[in-house]
Amino acid sequence: MNAVVYRGPREVAVQSVPDPISQAPTDAIVRLTTTALCGSDLHTYDGRTAATSGDVIGHEPLGIVEWVGSGVASIKRGDRVVIPTHANCAFCDNCERGYSGACLTVNPPNYGSAYGYAGMGTLVGAQAQMLRVPFADANCLIVPGEEGDDLEDDFVLLADAFVTGYHAATLGDVRPGSTVAVFGAGAVGLLAAYSALLIGAAEVYVVDGVDARLRIAEDLGAIPVDLRRGDPVEQIFEMRRRDRRAGPRGPSAEQMGGVMCAIDAAGFQARDRADMSKENPTQLIDDLARVVNPTGSIAMIGVWEPHDPHPVDADAGEGRFTVPWGTFFQKGVSVRFGRTHDERYNRTLRDLIVSGRAKPSRIVTQRLPLGSAPAAYDAFDRRAEGYVKVLFKPE
Ligand SMILES: NC(=O)c1ccc[n+]([C@@H]2O[C@H](COP(=O)([O-])OP(=O)(O)OC[C@H]3O[C@@H](n4cnc5c(N)ncnc54)[C@H](O)[C@@H]3O)[C@@H](O)[C@H]2O)c1
Ligand SMILES: [Zn+2]
Ligand SMILES: [Zn+2]
Repeated sequence: MNAVVYRGPREVAVQSVPDPISQAPTDAIVRLTTTALCGSDLHTYDGRTAATSGDVIGHEPLGIVEWVGSGVASIKRGDRVVIPTHANCAFCDNCERGYSGACLTVNPPNYGSAYGYAGMGTLVGAQAQMLRVPFADANCLIVPGEEGDDLEDDFVLLADAFVTGYHAATLGDVRPGSTVAVFGAGAVGLLAAYSALLIGAAEVYVVDGVDARLRIAEDLGAIPVDLRRGDPVEQIFEMRRRDRRAGPRGPSAEQMGGVMCAIDAAGFQARDRADMSKENPTQLIDDLARVVNPTGSIAMIGVWEPHDPHPVDADAGEGRFTVPWGTFFQKGVSVRFGRTHDERYNRTLRDLIVSGRAKPSRIVTQRLPLGSAPAAYDAFDRRAEGYVKVLFKPE
């Protein structure tokens, strides 16, 4: 089969690799009809993970079941399924408690796994024509309809981007009437904003410095904040001060001039606002601390690598960043982290898609053959205008 293979920093190729073969009676083999490109793949592409040449990458698959082992009960050949990024077993202590992103079975002795991501186990990547899925009963979510129909591009976002966006809103304790600021308008940040609006947030600000991304944020119903125009936290404070959408807030308006929920959707490669060619993750952490109101919540949904071979400084190489603990304590905020627990949300979000209440594919900008992967990675890595969420269609 053909697959996207990492060759080295900023080099991927589409090449022939061995077809997947089953390793256990609980496996399924799935023929992929759509597989997405994610900001997480860029951490690999940029040489910021332990990936080695020859690794098949990608982790956002949708397809048709081709084969199931004798130990698989809930799906059969021909079923249309979406597969969560983080493979899980459904029976370990963490899966049972609803923390499928920290499954203890799939990647021992570590916790949590992902297809095609260095440091997250040995599962082969999903930017390919076929995929082996372990514990298929736990990892294949059936979706209705037929391959290539008008929900194809919505369902593929259930593999990662939509569930991660929804997880961000959950970690950030977003409720009806909440005020929210999302930093980063990639697919994850946009779908975090969209999820917050689905939940009923009153005001959702989305910060980025790329026009096409800010336009989509606005189209979804969020308020775009262009970081190239100056400090985004000051911009949000100023907008809330003068915008009638903020509503009458009486004497508390000044003390509570930020938002109740701040979401990081940029991660450890966050850019410096003054010069977006440079990275400055500490500045992003400060912005989150400044924009959140006393008693609010911060959701860290971007990836923060514990080991970075090309860090901004020595501490960052070991996943250490300067954090204003004093501000957090003073404000009494909660800060929550981490990978999405796909299994908590994917059924609910599938049903919102099927009923027509959610259309996450509004953020999709490219639908390309798998063979275009090298050019698509290059454009997406440069955050080229118009490249927000790329879907590959393996032939
Ligand atoms: N927690 C999870 O389970 C999970 C799942 C998927 C992706 N992720 C992570 O989420 C992050 C976003 O993913 P994506 O696919 O949207 O990636 P992306 O690279 O397309 O989007 C990141 C966006 O952040 C913007 N940005 C950079 N610095 C910024 C700053 N200082 N302030 C505001 N915006 C800034 C960039 O311009 C870009 O638009 C990545 O780190 C990815 O690895 C986490
Ligand atoms: Zn992803
Ligand atoms: Zn498990």
